[in-house]
Amino acid sequence: MPIRAWFPTYIYCEPLTASSAARARFNADLADECRRLRDFDDAGRRWSAKNYPGGYTSYASMNELHRFSSTFAGLEKTLTRHVRAFARTLDMDLRGRAVHLTDLWVNIMPPTAAHSLHLHPLSFISGTYYVVTPRGCPGLKFEDPRLSKFMAAPPKIAGARRENRAHITYPAEAGNVILFESWLRHEVASNRTSDERISVSFNFNWS
Ligand code: NI
Repeated sequence: MPIRAWFPTYIYCEPLTASSAARARFNADLADECRRLRDFDDAGRRWSAKNYPGGYTSYASMNELHRFSSTFAGLEKTLTRHVRAFARTLDMDLRGRAVHLTDLWVNIMPPTAAHSLHLHPLSFISGTYYVVTPRGCPGLKFEDPRLSKFMAAPPKIAGARRENRAHITYPAEAGNVILFESWLRHEVASNRTSDERISVSFNFNWS
């Protein structure tokens, strides 16, 4: 019997909308709104100083932005279509329920800021939309979810096929949306560029 691969881990990466000009316009508005939010969100800046060193995130302070801003509500509408498509690819039986966005927050990473390895509890599909991505800024690095089960397995050879490696990094590209199942651990390395990297992260549920 030939060797075949099973139990794949899916990662979805698509442009938010078809028109690159429309994405650029939308991102300009979104970037303004993200920066205004940082200026306005005192509680978020205090939380970030302790928990998101060097950067700003509204994760713990303003994480339902789609409820308060038409720009973010528009993003919610488009993201929901992407999440439905991803759930179809995963062959998920949603039992007639709708997928819905539960939380959505802003991340601003100035030079040197990083975001250590984590997952997204209490949701089933999570993701990130990229707003401002200076050339050379860090991507989104995913870890093989079976890493804790490798036991005595030898390391991979230097030229291992990408699907056989323990990590895969997706470049951060403004206008792209990346989706993954919420249990998949990921991180963002330190921003070594001299400019801010801005993204919007979110969680979906299906109840
Ligand atoms: Ni994350």
